[in-house]
Amino acid sequence: MSRVALVTGGTRGIGAAISMALRNAGYKVAATYAGNEEKARAFHEVTGISVYKWDVTSYEDCGKGIAKVEAELGPVEILVNNAGITRDAMFHKMTPQQWNEVINTNLTGLFNMTHHVWQGMRDRSFGRVINISSINGQKGQMGQANYSAAKAGDLGFTKALAQEGAAKNITVNAICPGYIGTEMVLAVPEKVLNERIIPQIPVGRLGEPEEIARAVVFLAADDAGFITGSTISANGGQFFA
Ligand SMILES: NC(=O)c1ccc[n+]([C@@H]2O[C@H](COP(=O)([O-])OP(=O)(O)OC[C@H]3O[C@@H](n4cnc5c(N)ncnc54)[C@H](OP(=O)(O)O)[C@@H]3O)[C@@H](O)[C@H]2O)c1
Repeated sequence: MSRVALVTGGTRGIGAAISMALRNAGYKVAATYAGNEEKARAFHEVTGISVYKWDVTSYEDCGKGIAKVEAELGPVEILVNNAGITRDAMFHKMTPQQWNEVINTNLTGLFNMTHHVWQGMRDRSFGRVINISSINGQKGQMGQANYSAAKAGDLGFTKALAQEGAAKNITVNAICPGYIGTEMVLAVPEKVLNERIIPQIPVGRLGEPEEIARAVVFLAADDAGFITGSTISANGGQFFA
């Protein structure tokens, strides 16, 4: 029986690459999204992967959504917390709304999702939780006090939960991507990308979503059980944590 993997924000960007890589590795995959129906429909039509819509900032909606996935596909044994947003602003101009939206999605979303699958993983003595953090949670980034705080929080969450899950064969790991060529990054003005960001990346290019998905498949595997609480940096050599 193939295991069920749930990928939040799994219908586009890095998440879509993760969903496809897990499916290609033999998992039954559920990909969630927040509201971009067009991208979700196109993703489903091309891949055949089941898609589900809910907002990870709502604890109740996560519970209902996960129950639906489990009724249709089976218990969630691999959870990839990938959904994330940016609301960039210099701190002196950052609004409480920009702060709260990013913390609620990128940090509290991990609690909302993981809490609903955790007891099942404990009961079955197997689980893989993989959190997509960011290079900017490791090093901090000007204009992203909200995002850097949330992503650094994801790393603390990962390390604490890894200790709780270890005795039950549940691993909890984080991946910190550097700059990857998705809509999130391609929204940055081209001049800033070419003159300020890419020159800081020793490999001389943006990463590909598939290069993050590769690390997820590695951590999801049954024989990755001795790797927990770790952070994999995938950033083209830009920062060594
Ligand atoms: N791109 C990078 O360079 C980079 C670097 C480091 C870390 N990351 C992290 O990697 C992850 C994926 O990034 P990406 O670049 O692939 O982003 P993206 O292309 O903007 O896609 C984000 C995905 O998250 C979903 N999402 C956003 N808010 C949500 C919410 N409240 N509830 C449920 N789903 C929600 C979106 O759903 P809709 O499609 O419905 O909008 C979308 O599927 C994020 O956590 C990001 O912080 C990205």
